[in-house]
Order: sequence, then C-alpha cells, then structure tokens
Amino acid sequence: MCGISAIASYKPVAEKLFQCLINLEYRGYDSCGMALFDQQSLKLRKNIGNVEEVGAKERFFEMSGNTGIAHTRWATHGGVSTENSHPHSSNDQNFVIVHNGIFSNYKTLRKSLKNKGYQFHSDTDTEVFANLLQEEFKKTPHVEQAFCQAIEHLQGSYAIAMITTHQPDVVFAVKKDSPLVLGINDGTNYVSSDINAFIAETNDTVIIDDEEYVIMTKDNFQVKRLVDGQEVKKKIIKVQWDRQTAQRGGFSHYMLKEIFDQPQTVRNALHIPEEEIGKIAQKFLDKKQSYFVGVGTTYYVAMIGTYLFSQYAGLHVPAISSDEFPSLIPTDQNNHVLFFSQSGETYDTRMAIRKAMEGGAATSAIVNVVGSSISQTVEDCIFQGSGPEICVVSTKAALSQIIILWQIALKVGELNGNLTAEQAHQFRENFNSFPETLETMINEESGFIRDLAAKTFHVRSWLFMGKGIYYPIALESALKMKEVTYLHAEGLPAGFLKHGTLAMVDDSMYCLFFLPYREDSELYHSTMNAIEEVKARNGKIIAFCTEDDKEAQEILDHYFIIPKISPELTPLLEIVLAQLFSYYSALHLGLNIDKPRNLAKSVTVG
Ligand code: F6R
Repeated sequence: MCGISAIASYKPVAEKLFQCLINLEYRGYDSCGMALFDQQSLKLRKNIGNVEEVGAKERFFEMSGNTGIAHTRWATHGGVSTENSHPHSSNDQNFVIVHNGIFSNYKTLRKSLKNKGYQFHSDTDTEVFANLLQEEFKKTPHVEQAFCQAIEHLQGSYAIAMITTHQPDVVFAVKKDSPLVLGINDGTNYVSSDINAFIAETNDTVIIDDEEYVIMTKDNFQVKRLVDGQEVKKKIIKVQWDRQTAQRGGFSHYMLKEIFDQPQTVRNALHIPEEEIGKIAQKFLDKKQSYFVGVGTTYYVAMIGTYLFSQYAGLHVPAISSDEFPSLIPTDQNNHVLFFSQSGETYDTRMAIRKAMEGGAATSAIVNVVGSSISQTVEDCIFQGSGPEICVVSTKAALSQIIILWQIALKVGELNGNLTAEQAHQFRENFNSFPETLETMINEESGFIRDLAAKTFHVRSWLFMGKGIYYPIALESALKMKEVTYLHAEGLPAGFLKHGTLAMVDDSMYCLFFLPYREDSELYHSTMNAIEEVKARNGKIIAFCTEDDKEAQEILDHYFIIPKISPELTPLLEIVLAQLFSYYSALHLGLNIDKPRNLAKSVTVG
C-alpha cells in the first residue's frame, strides 16, 4: 500500500515530483524516495520518515532532471528501512522502478535471479523487477520489449513506473489490480496511483486498465495492450475536482478542512443525476435479496443504509463487512450487492466483489475515486464527487455516501409503492436545506465542541450509544474517536447497555449519547432510559439535544445543542458534530491527526 508517481517534462521536475509525494502521502508514510535522470545518469535518494522529513533530509529540491519517479511507502514486504524504501534499481543501475502492490511470486523470482548472479540489497518483493528488467534487456536490447518480457514473469498486483538510462526521456508504466492514472498537461505529463497527486496541475486524466502499459514522454503518451502490443485509444477524462479542494486552504489539518467541506460535498451528492440513482434503485427491485457491503467506516455507512431502506423502502437489506462477506454470504443470480468505498481500492471490498461476481450476483458501487479498481469492476458505479479526501480517516466521503444511499432508498420506496410521490417529494425538499443547516451548525458549534474536548480529552474510555439509525452513527463516531485519539471508544446500541456493558459504568465512565428529538418519541424515550441507567451509576453523560429539551438537559453533564430540523436529518448532523469532537480531542492530545499511527488511507492488502 503505497503511492507512486512519475513525471516527464520540458523543465526540471524535482519540485513537482515532491509535491506529488506530499499529495500521495495518505497512501503510506513510513519512507519515501525519488529518482531523476540527470545528465546521462540516474540519481536516487531515499530514506525513512514522512515525505517532508525525507525531503528535507535528502534535499529532494536540489535534484535536477526533467524525468523522474517517486514513491511513498507503507511497509508490507520488508520492514521500514532505507534499503527497503523505493525507488529500487537494477544491479547495473540502468533501470530504476517504483511499485505499488505485491509480486506474489517474488521469492521464486528472487531465487532464480540470485542463481544468475544478481545481488539483492533489500527485503522487498519490488527489487526483483528491477533485476528482471536488466536480465531481459540483456536478451533483447530494446527497452519496450524488455519491459513487456519482464512483466510476463510477474504474478500478483502491481502499478509500476520505470525510468532507464537507455531511454532517458521516457517513463514506462504498467498496472494490474493496483490503480494507475495519467495526468496530461502541456509539456508536463504525469503517471500516478491517484489523481490527487497532480490534480493541482491538470484535470485531464487517462485511466489505465489492467494489462495495459504506458510509454510517456513530456509531450506524448501511448497506451498499449500487454497481450499484443497494440495501441489502445484512450479517452481523456476531465476530472471535476478543483485545485483548491485538493489543498488544505488555511485549515490546520485536512481532517478539519474535510469536515468543513461537507456542506459542499452534500450539495454535490444531492446533484447526482437521477438516472444514476434510478439505475441502482432498479436493481433492488429486480433481485430477490440485496446486500450492502463496505469495511471500516464504509461498513457503518452500509449499516446506516439498512435503516434507511427499512424506513423508506420497507425492505430489509443486510449490511455485511467486506472482510466477512466471502465466508458468510452465498450469492447467486437472485442477489444484488451494493458496495461502498471511498478509495475504490480496498482489498477486502475487492475480494467481496470478486466473491459476489463469482456467484453471479449483480454488483454496483458508490465510490469517490474516479478510475479506481472497484469503480471499474462493478456493473454500475456512482461517483460521489466528494473531491479528494486526504486525511486518513474518512469524514466527508462517508457523509456523501449516506446522502446518495438515502436518495436510492427514496427512489426504491417510490418505485415499490412504500412511499407516495408526495411523501418522497417532501423528504427531498427537507434535504435540500441540509447543506445550509450543516454549514451553520459546524460554524456555530465548533467553538463549543472544542471547549468541551478540552475538558474531556483526559478520558481514557468512552461508550458511544444510540438507538435505531443512531446506533450505526454511534459506531462510526466511536471509530473516529479511536482512530484519531487512540483512546478506547466503544459504540453500542443504547438498548443493549443493560444486557452487560452497564457493569463497566461508574463515575469514571464517560458516555456520549446520540439522542433523537423528543418528537421521535419511541427512540427518544428508550435512549433516555439508557441515559438514566448510566446516571444511576454516576457515569458521566454527554448528549446531543435541542434547545427546548429541558428534561434531557437536567440530567446531562454536558450537551451539544442541535437545531430543530426534520427528524431524518438529525442523525446526519450528529455524525458531523461527533467528527468535530474527535478532531478537537485529538488536537488537545497533540496527535498526528491526518496520519494516525498504524493506519493508511487505502488498505490495498489483505
Ligand atoms: C475510517 C476509514 C476506514 C475506511 C476503510 C475502507 O475513518 O477511513 O475505516 O473506511 O478502510 O476504505 P474505503 O472506503 O477506501 O474502501
């Protein structure tokens, strides 16, 4: 799980390549490196640490050259060390490569290359490919052919970029099961794992498919099929993410910026074309049984979907975590599975898709990253248009997925007669004002939430509780808290508390309740019962409630005031305010919010 980038340009590329690494750092940040072709020779610098640290240590800015490759790493094969960081070069130093993915047969390849006299300087799977290139070039002194022949030896997943002294102005690249895109600009072309890398420079993108390879110079690119070397005519896609969205724009962290992006990303999600919503909605009607599948935050999005479908469409659509799906759900032609993925690259979700497809199920997905593997695999995909999400923890992408899911639920409800057209219309009307409400809330409440976080950031253990749709909201909010503060936060259904977890509650236990409106009477009263249970054991209680809810305010130790809006919007407001609470708690703890320890943005390994 790493990020790769390459540039061919008419001018020096070091600075831009470094910026690409910064933009890709969410994919991994334990070490990084760059290699540039500089006056007849390849110069390579790499080290351990995050991009900024290594950039300063290795003085990336001083590297000269108009063609280069770069890599930011999240260790899988081989520990975190300078030797294991990329780029890797062949023994004769003529081929230098960066790689994202895993060569599953690398041990066999390494052994056979060692038998031929090659030496290895790292524990990585990647290094074998650099030496394979040298070996194949010995047999066929033609770079393109040697490149294709070397690829033939590979098994596993890969996105690779390569530069060579034999053709100094050219970048070669190839992909299988790992993402690869081109950025096309005037005189400066890019190869990367993700459009984030170059979106500040160009919106013109070409998506590379599996088994295709790329030959790219500063003013040209060719995409060819590995199988027969035939050129493929690729479409240049204009990606609608703007440059500013890709940058931090004055916020202290990407997480905060992305929380504040949400009114806009909700607007974008509300503008997904009706026919895209309708196409996926129809699948729920055509198939006997549908499932929602995602993992981590997107699993909680899937769970929220279960509640939305039950409410609006009168259908029970179970949510399954991607990692459990293959061993749990037998699929056939009567099934439809809707997948959720911000990155579109998550290994567990890709394996779940594979399993669903093998069974003959219909598949669809809601994905943020254009050109990602998942978007290319499923039959129908909605691109959520949330813009780049850089912080490792997901905020705006998840909320957008919920909004899209909610529109699909309404459509299914309308089509299957569970809702009248007027009811569906009324719900949509309510949602249209949500971005403004959200904007006001984030701005007005953030100071208060920050102050509360200052009082509670010492708390070591939290219970986050809610009932009905507020239960997956509590789970997702607890996950956010764990990720950015490293504190224990357990999400559970409010009604479940008395069946065991209540034993933990004493005056040191802090509980955050996702309380609905009083008007949502049944949910409200059963959540209040759980609050009373905690109160009776002297536990500390924080909850969301409306200004006029004096009954709740009397028992709560602290509360977040939420406005009176239509009840279906309240859980969404609460999820956002809980994101802010986690953010400010981590801020007070002085942690690395955008890159929490042990995590990476797209988990492309199993
Ligand atoms: C949590 C988080 C992760 C991801 C999960 C799936 O904040 O971001 O739990 O939701 O790794 O990733 P995607 O959505 O890229 O498939």
